[in-house]
Amino acid sequence: MPWLSLKQPGEQNDDNPWSSLKPYSQWLNTGRSALSVALRSLRKIHGCNRIWIPTFVCPCIRETCLRNSFSIEYYSLDRNLNILPGALDGAGTGDAFLWVHYFGFFSTYPVERLLDRGVWIVEDAVQSALTGGVGKNGNFVFQSLRKFTPLPDGAYLGSDFPLEDKLESVDSEFIALRLKGKKLKAEQAPDREYLELFERSEALLDADYFPRSMSAVSKGMLKTQNLSQIIEKRRGNYLHLSQFLNSSGPIRPLFSSLPDSAAPLGLPVVLEQSQRNRVRSFLAGNGIYCAIHWLLAPGAPQLPGDEASWLSERILTLPIDQRYSRDDMEYIWKTLKRSGLD
Ligand SMILES: Cc1ncc(COP(=O)(O)O)c(C=O)c1O
Repeated sequence: MPWLSLKQPGEQNDDNPWSSLKPYSQWLNTGRSALSVALRSLRKIHGCNRIWIPTFVCPCIRETCLRNSFSIEYYSLDRNLNILPGALDGAGTGDAFLWVHYFGFFSTYPVERLLDRGVWIVEDAVQSALTGGVGKNGNFVFQSLRKFTPLPDGAYLGSDFPLEDKLESVDSEFIALRLKGKKLKAEQAPDREYLELFERSEALLDADYFPRSMSAVSKGMLKTQNLSQIIEKRRGNYLHLSQFLNSSGPIRPLFSSLPDSAAPLGLPVVLEQSQRNRVRSFLAGNGIYCAIHWLLAPGAPQLPGDEASWLSERILTLPIDQRYSRDDMEYIWKTLKRSGLD
């Protein structure tokens, strides 16, 4: 059973999982906007200007930190996304730590030790917007709604401290492109038509690091989303597809099980480096589009024992979201088998 049991959640709804998470909060357009606002608050209130980020993360994180004049230290991970022992030994009083909950799974780490040392904890739950337990231990938490629902934009930022409320207005071009793309997709237009609109909208984001408010259209849509149903559907699809995969096969799930708290973004798998791009193209040729989280930015540091590059060259995220059925999961599996991997 998923952790959340909601019927008709909305911003003003008492059942809203965000309403009592943190004393201060803001609704923004994107995860990177939420991180910017958190960093500004940390600098203004606590004079913080250095942040520890993982080697394996969306490249926009580095960009967001640099644009907010934070200096960056990296910490290393193993190939299962566990933080390596000692990787954060250098983090000290007044530093910030970006604690990433990947792919909808709560990332276990003894953050109390860091809190005791005076490190500020910023939980990045962009990929874990509906995951149980996130936001309870950090000083800040941010979560992306647009990655889990049909909303064109939307990210929640919760904080223990007051937040700057000077936000730019909504980027209506971005919202229009997203809405049009989603409509075409729902109408089963040719893939290239809506994919092109999505690419154009992401390019707009990549050129815009001003924190913006969440659009009114997304706020309205959020109230109509059945979040518990979304979690259940994603978990059901994840379990159905993962039963065909095994840890010693050519397509290995990154996570060995699905904890009760998890609300998966997708089903991340690991393939041989020489096969990953070929299999991805084969799937796309059969109507299955898989993201790569992430191709690392050139110039990322090589830390001892770190396996971010290893993972980045092999990982693929299979789609399991609520639009898909069990039959779709079986189609994905059959198509993977036809790709010539086993
Ligand atoms: C872990 C993580 N953090 C932050 C971001 C940035 O979120 P957004 O694209 O909404 O700015 C992403 C984007 O995929 C992400 O996966």
